[in-house]
Amino acid sequence: MLHSKLHSHHYQSICVKDPAIESNHAHIPPIYATSTFTYEDLEAAFAFFRGESDIYTYSRFGNPSTAFLAQKIAELEVCGISEPIEARGLLFSSGMAAISSALISQLKAGDTVLRQSIIYGAASDLIDNDFKAFDIHSATHNFKDLDHLEKTIKKNPTIKVFYLETPANPTLACVDLNAICDFAQQYGIKVIIDNTFATSYVQQPLKFGVDIVVYSTTKFMNGHGTGISGAVVTRSLDDHKKIYQLLKNLGGVCSPFEAYLLNNGLKTLPLRIRQHQYNAQLLAEYLATHEKVKKVNFLGLPTHPDHLLASEQMMGTTGMLSFELKGGLEEGMKFQKKIKFCTLTASLGTADTLITHPASTSHAVVDRNERIENGITDGLVRCSVGIEHIDDVLEDFEQALTT
Ligand SMILES: Cc1ncc(COP(=O)(O)O)c(C=O)c1O
Repeated sequence: MLHSKLHSHHYQSICVKDPAIESNHAHIPPIYATSTFTYEDLEAAFAFFRGESDIYTYSRFGNPSTAFLAQKIAELEVCGISEPIEARGLLFSSGMAAISSALISQLKAGDTVLRQSIIYGAASDLIDNDFKAFDIHSATHNFKDLDHLEKTIKKNPTIKVFYLETPANPTLACVDLNAICDFAQQYGIKVIIDNTFATSYVQQPLKFGVDIVVYSTTKFMNGHGTGISGAVVTRSLDDHKKIYQLLKNLGGVCSPFEAYLLNNGLKTLPLRIRQHQYNAQLLAEYLATHEKVKKVNFLGLPTHPDHLLASEQMMGTTGMLSFELKGGLEEGMKFQKKIKFCTLTASLGTADTLITHPASTSHAVVDRNERIENGITDGLVRCSVGIEHIDDVLEDFEQALTT
């Protein structure tokens, strides 16, 4: 599609600046609320439908409100990386539309997806259950033990894709991207990663050799909880073309209005992430020393098993943490019922602090034993730490933890 390319600037400048995408000199790219576009002349239309030109014809095929933003997200993905990577972006109607199209683009009947043990519940449901109808199989791995990983691959040559979520929802478990990408290349396996928790401001997976990055842009990138959207960024033109074909024909396109909201949110992403990180660190430290807290999962605490790995492959932490109270489920529920200032809701990445119970929401579809084996106990509470004044969040936690 038509891409108005921004010149390579610093990350936060790319977030803020918009290219001129129309002739009336609007400062902010307008919402192109149109299903179709008229043709210069019939020859132009024929040339487009013969695949010989690249004009806007129909909004499922492309729309200026989404095209420039997809390119902006791709530029952010490689901003500051010395290796020249021609990253390309596509916008989707949701994170799940992005994830499903990215996966389908790499798979055929008989193939297997080796997915990280614990990932977002709907993504594991799609891979383990929905794909069965297409004779696509799934297996899980923690991607920590490389010897075991090698044995798994040698035993099962149908594994064609590694699907990772690092840091993972909600334990923040991380995968060593350098090691896994080297390994995958050796065996001709494609690596797809969900980078929703980190965003490209904190982690740039293409730098490590990842092939395809997927996002629920509904979360930190939109940042205000105002819409549902997703994105895919590819390293190769070939993968971009395959995924664009699915975007067009499965039809999960991002609406111009959602794109407008996403672009508005994206402008302040670095500012917001820095405040999310700062607040999350203080809240994690508070919880870690609280007598009622059994365990805190936060990458900024040296007690997290992936603290070191995260400090090597990420540029800071995220606003996400999870914790378990000593009284398990019962105490976790009591705590949530007492919360007044923070919001109890299932999503994440908004400006305000959100609290959720993974076992009954984001991971409700996951088998209980598998959940518990991977640290998502019945009592685990997840917190997406917002950008409010941290004292108000701490005060709310303090009163909710006091019996
Ligand atoms: C890590 C992660 N990936 C993907 C998704 C799916 O995104 P969406 O709801 O935009 O389809 C979610 C939703 O919560 C998520 O947490």
